[in-house]
Amino acid sequence: MIAVIDFGSQTTQLIARKIREMGIFAEIFPNTIAPEALDKAQGLILSGSPESTLSDHHPEIHPGIWDLNIPILGICYGFQSMALHYGASIAKGKREYGRTELHLLHSSPLMQNISNPTTVWMSHEDSVASLPENFEAIADTASIPIAGMQSIKMKRFGIQCHPEVYHSVDGVQILRNFAEKIVQADKDWNLSDFVSQEIELIRNSVGQAMVVAGISGGVDSTVASVLVHRAIGPQLHCFFVDHGLLRENECSEVSVMLSTLGIKLEVLDRKELFINALKDIEDPEEKRKIIGRLFIETFEEVAGRINAKYLLQGTLYPDVIESSGGVSGLAAKIKSHHNVGGLPKDMKLHLLEPLKMLFKDEVRKIGKELGLSEQFVQRHPFPGPGLGIRIIGSVDEHKLAVLRKADAILREELKIYDTRQKVWQGFAVLLPIRSVGVMGDQRTYQWTLALRLVESVDGMTATWHKIPHEVLEMISNRITNEVYEINRVVYDITSKPPGTIEWE
Ligand code: XMP
Repeated sequence: MIAVIDFGSQTTQLIARKIREMGIFAEIFPNTIAPEALDKAQGLILSGSPESTLSDHHPEIHPGIWDLNIPILGICYGFQSMALHYGASIAKGKREYGRTELHLLHSSPLMQNISNPTTVWMSHEDSVASLPENFEAIADTASIPIAGMQSIKMKRFGIQCHPEVYHSVDGVQILRNFAEKIVQADKDWNLSDFVSQEIELIRNSVGQAMVVAGISGGVDSTVASVLVHRAIGPQLHCFFVDHGLLRENECSEVSVMLSTLGIKLEVLDRKELFINALKDIEDPEEKRKIIGRLFIETFEEVAGRINAKYLLQGTLYPDVIESSGGVSGLAAKIKSHHNVGGLPKDMKLHLLEPLKMLFKDEVRKIGKELGLSEQFVQRHPFPGPGLGIRIIGSVDEHKLAVLRKADAILREELKIYDTRQKVWQGFAVLLPIRSVGVMGDQRTYQWTLALRLVESVDGMTATWHKIPHEVLEMISNRITNEVYEINRVVYDITSKPPGTIEWE
């Protein structure tokens, strides 16, 4: 396997993802990991970071890791950290952001079968100003003379660009050269093996104990439950919290889906509790925290009732990264995803998170292996806080009913239009903006609805979907005709970054 050491970059997980797509297992570790814990690693990749190696307390790896006799590839900050360790100097300035031409200087096993020059993605302010002893430069750009280096003898490689991101045209090839040619890592990662190993692991760790699973209607918690049900059957108790922030038919669709797989679902009606708690709350983080807290309280109540020892969560790898500062704790926090960030420190329940190492598309594949229908596994992601974070500002029953109706129309039309599943996630957002309109010769003064349709692979980055105008027109017409409270529909054309997918 290849160990990816995380210095807090937003794209650390993409490195692991790209390696796994080659059939090689990759796991992310914090930068504080001890060398002894890396005994299974055949190679290491050091990630980028929001930090600077020139700052006083910059993150470093355990010094013993440099002594490991396995290949190491440093990316961006990881490259600079490596350069610094082996005696180079780092300079401020000469920043490069975005698309950049990389020129290859010296033959390198890392750069085989890629074009020269090649287009890469850069994101840095500091640069390597001098080479360490025994290293040679392998690439430069118009701005920086050392955009990559190697010491073949020491098996150390570094590059300033981010090969893991889509816009680095030969990025995958660079990672492939490292993982397959330089490290020659074992190619033994496949999802069928993962399922059987995980079932075994769950059985062993849970024993005779009871497990509670909060199902959200999303693919992740459903797949996690089906997997655990395979392992421990009736020891799993699934429940669904109807917090009143759900989409139309959400609850019944999920119940039916699970019952076809022989899994019973207890539905808890907590609409009043959640909606009362959200009254007049406008701040997105506050809303998320309240919803998260009430979820946990409900989990604990159910767990207490059936004397459960474990709480099952459908946490995925990206949730960990975005919510809690990443594996290293160094990544910038973007949002409090309720299923990761909000758990109380003194919680008595132990967490069971069988999907924690997986990416969304891997979870979908596992879902299919476990018997979930294609239609269900292809469901658009739906966040735990539900429509609560798709109503900008304060939430109430009336706004929820309006949004639910508009969202259902959008989803209906998408089902017809998006047969090839180009849209990774599509939903409507109710804005607290009223504007003047005219309908049937009458003045209207109603709300605005934003449509958000994105293309993505894992939700970490996304581009807005270029929907044909006539489809957009049909959706807009239907919504303004059928939802009385909405007289204006706008389309969100922001990618992620700089936007996030959800508005709150
Ligand atoms: P953002 O808005 O951060 O969303 O770009 C990325 C993906 O995560 C989903 N999301 C959540 N999922 N609990 C979840 O289970 C949450 O609190 C949450 N917040 C955002 C979002 O829908 C998108 O697919």
